[in-house]
Amino acid sequence: MKAILVAGARPNFMKVAPVLKELEARGVKTVLVHTGQHYDAAMSGAFFEDLGLRRPDVNLNVGSGSHAEQTARVMVAFEPVCARERAEWVVVVGDVNSTLACALVARKMGAGVAHVEAGLRSRDMRMPEEVNRICTDAVSDLLFTTEEAGNRNLRAEGVAEERIHFVGNTMVDTLLEHVEEARRKKLPMGLREKGYAVVTLHRPSNVDDEERLKGLLGALDAVAERMPVVFPAHPRTRAKLEEFGLARNGGKWFVVEPMGYLSFLGLVAHSRMVLTDSGGIQEETTMLQVPCLTLRENTERPVTCELGTNILVGTRPERLKSEALQVLDGGERESELPRYWAGRAAERIAEILGNANPIFC
Ligand code: UD1
Repeated sequence: MKAILVAGARPNFMKVAPVLKELEARGVKTVLVHTGQHYDAAMSGAFFEDLGLRRPDVNLNVGSGSHAEQTARVMVAFEPVCARERAEWVVVVGDVNSTLACALVARKMGAGVAHVEAGLRSRDMRMPEEVNRICTDAVSDLLFTTEEAGNRNLRAEGVAEERIHFVGNTMVDTLLEHVEEARRKKLPMGLREKGYAVVTLHRPSNVDDEERLKGLLGALDAVAERMPVVFPAHPRTRAKLEEFGLARNGGKWFVVEPMGYLSFLGLVAHSRMVLTDSGGIQEETTMLQVPCLTLRENTERPVTCELGTNILVGTRPERLKSEALQVLDGGERESELPRYWAGRAAERIAEILGNANPIFC
């Protein structure tokens, strides 16, 4: 059997790494395709090193662009790869533009399509990722879900049971494999364990609007009055901070370059609190039992709020400030871990893939 595995952007690499390893261990021929959606060393190369992920067999080098440009470029570049490799399966992960682009191409080229992290829904169609999730799931034979909500969403959409496989979370597999090494890394900038907060912001809805970004940073200033705030800034965010004259530096603010996987995981693991608009970080903080405030109105990962440490605080500055100060004044709380978030998701995926026939081919 032969499988093409696709990764394109920063949050894909840790999801694909354990699946690649498991398939290879079972003697499956694998082709690792990097679409090049993310290309900076800090957004891509550093992750390959930290995760021990082998160099991609193919790099489509698509780079940045509008949604249409980027998605189209991936499709055009991926089609000949599919034609040449003639793999039985194409495995896509997550919800980025590369995920959808390759799923569409693979479907039409007659390969089986497997989607890792299927079924998540924010019900916010203004999010490009929500469009990517729905469309990728629609054309995938196998839907590997990470949490019960994913199963419920797919069933509610009328998806046949034989396509849905609740396997757990491959990002958690990667986290568990690397967390001890990450915890042992020395904290930067003289930070002390549990003595600082971590901020990440990159969603266009939060960072592209000057008033919104200004309000969020104003609220975060209240946290920076209490403890150091480390802000590894996505390239998009850094550009917007400069464009709007909102750059924070000095005092207790530390705006730094995007970090590699291990450094960031260690930073989060030892932090007092995380404030983010990322999807994956809601899951990582749940695993690490670190309080997480999510600066969004919705989440496609509800289990992180139901069981984990995640609180959806929206984007109103007053609410954000009061919730953040409440966390800082409150005690630590233990939370239960979601079902199957225990490090064997990739094993289940490889097992199922090895025995399945594509449903739509
Ligand atoms: C993408 C994903 C998002 C994910 C995020 C993680 C989509 C629709 N969005 O958003 O779901 O949460 O990745 O980071 O797929 N840039 C660089 N260097 C890079 C990559 C990007 O400077 O290596 C800059 C470029 O100016 C680019 C911008 O960042 O235009 C946005 O990159 P893009 O891949 O389009 O989207 P992200 O915002 O990173």
